[in-house]
Amino acid sequence: MRVVRGRRSGVVIAVAVHSTQAGPAIGGCRIKSYPDWRDGVDDVVRLARAMTEKAALARLPHGGGKAVIMDADAVLDERDRLLVLEDLAEVITSLDGAYLTGPDIGSTPADMEILHRLTGGLAFCRPESSGGSGNSSTATARGVLAALDAAADHVFGTGALADLRVGVIGYGSVGRLVADELAARGCAVTTGDLDGSRRATAEAAGLTWSTEDLLDEEFDVLVPAAVGGLLSEERARTCRARLIVGPANNQLTHDDVASTLHERGITWVPDVVAGAGGIIHAVCREELGLTEEETTPRISAIGTTVTEILTGARDGGTTPQVAARDLAARRTAVPA
Ligand code: PHE
Repeated sequence: MRVVRGRRSGVVIAVAVHSTQAGPAIGGCRIKSYPDWRDGVDDVVRLARAMTEKAALARLPHGGGKAVIMDADAVLDERDRLLVLEDLAEVITSLDGAYLTGPDIGSTPADMEILHRLTGGLAFCRPESSGGSGNSSTATARGVLAALDAAADHVFGTGALADLRVGVIGYGSVGRLVADELAARGCAVTTGDLDGSRRATAEAAGLTWSTEDLLDEEFDVLVPAAVGGLLSEERARTCRARLIVGPANNQLTHDDVASTLHERGITWVPDVVAGAGGIIHAVCREELGLTEEETTPRISAIGTTVTEILTGARDGGTTPQVAARDLAARRTAVPA
């Protein structure tokens, strides 16, 4: 783990490498403000650990890592943004290839292009026009939908998706793709986002916009697609969805929350499975040299993994979280 105050930008940057057992650590670069730099350090450690599981479950030859730039305002101006990215690139380069970055909340393919150049190739998801695999949101959304299809089959029975009431928390780059697609398939979709300017687009796509806390509303399926940590012990006790599946990283504030959801009969699909589409796409296209056609089944395979986890949890009388960890451990032991 490296924590530095960037010498050009003055911004605190943390990079965590959780594991390099299966290969170099991979994980996105999050740009986000924190109340205290220590909160950012806690966050980057938890996010990096989750990436190790995510890569293992997706059978990618990588461990988990993450980078956090702890000041969302410091990157608003283009010139300041470059200074911050130069500071981050210096940290990444100093890790000698142990950490590969990619986009995450707050960072873009344009940032990845800069980081790729400054680090000599240690960044995924540059724009396609520059030879990268581009924005990972579409692939992430496809993975969420594969997870959702499989989980809905498991919980509600085959073919039930069209009649479901779905709440999508966050109408950002991934949330909007998932929400729009579910509405197109006939689900009654409600969404909301802290950014109220997204409302018109959502309503134009036929969604219901809500400024209420969607965790408290009654849905068949809840899709967390905003920042993590929304499911605390208290919220898990009052939440009214039957199935929770979405791409937000680190949805639970604590591991025990998985047991609370399980005891209440709520099926929670771990985010490390549901949110893996983006990273699968980036690694398959940019590193493993697969075509788009060859990559698609690897993203759809998220559905098979979800079924395996939910069946394993049911048969073993355990939570999907424990079942996912077991499966990740088994998949790490046998590299793809
Ligand atoms: N934000 C992505 C995730 O959490 C990280 C990522 C995507 C990293 C694509 C590399 C390539 O999975």
